[in-house]
Amino acid sequence: MDKLLVALDVETGERALQLAADLRGLAGGVKVGSRLFTLEGPMLVRRLVDAGHRVFLDLKFHDIPNTVAQAVDAAVQTGAWMITVHASGGMAMMQAAVRAGRDAAERRDVPPPLLIAVTVLTSIDREALSGVGVHRPVMDHVVALAQLTRDAGLDGVVASPLETTAIRRACGDEFTIVTPGIRGASAGLPGDDQARTMGPADAIRAGATYIVVGRPIIAASDPRAAAQAIACEMAVA
Ligand code: C5P
Repeated sequence: MDKLLVALDVETGERALQLAADLRGLAGGVKVGSRLFTLEGPMLVRRLVDAGHRVFLDLKFHDIPNTVAQAVDAAVQTGAWMITVHASGGMAMMQAAVRAGRDAAERRDVPPPLLIAVTVLTSIDREALSGVGVHRPVMDHVVALAQLTRDAGLDGVVASPLETTAIRRACGDEFTIVTPGIRGASAGLPGDDQARTMGPADAIRAGATYIVVGRPIIAASDPRAAAQAIACEMAVA
């Protein structure tokens, strides 16, 4: 299932490689986050890419434009397929990321990476947003940052399932929306730290281009069976 991305939130590179192999044909890509990357480095990304996996390198770059451009260039060199930055880094930072992604891909003669921005982290509520000086409702800020992301030329955003419909309406059908926080239905595991959740089929119906699933698959006793159940449900949607 092309639209199912699996978050490899595990402790070692060997475990990540094993999981990715076990999910072959079911996962449309695997996500390497800051923990695994900090532990195992770019070599793990290259090994996953060499094994034929699409890698979503979720390091959420947020720095001055020149530094983000260099980081995106380095990410392209690992073979990453999808890369994240923070939209709150602003227009110039995001445009620098797009240019760097295109230039690096051209030099390597590969397709440019999908560049995706994080709008407002799902751990931030209205009070926390106000604490950093943003006084409008979270949803308004999310949609405004999604529009900034589109205007900067990026491919899309990461968004909670509850934000997908509003972003789709504001940014159009071509915009990529990557949705974590998948729970319920075939993706069991209620009662963890994800608060704003939706089932896999509903998330696709709400307009997600890709869904990101971690623990409901990687913590299952049979990850392949868990991924299969989620993929079946998504296919119905
Ligand atoms: O285990 P779970 O399904 O909650 O994993 C979701 C993945 O998506 C994790 O890697 C988490 O860090 C990531 N993520 C998220 N919410 C965001 C952005 C990323 O859950 N807003």
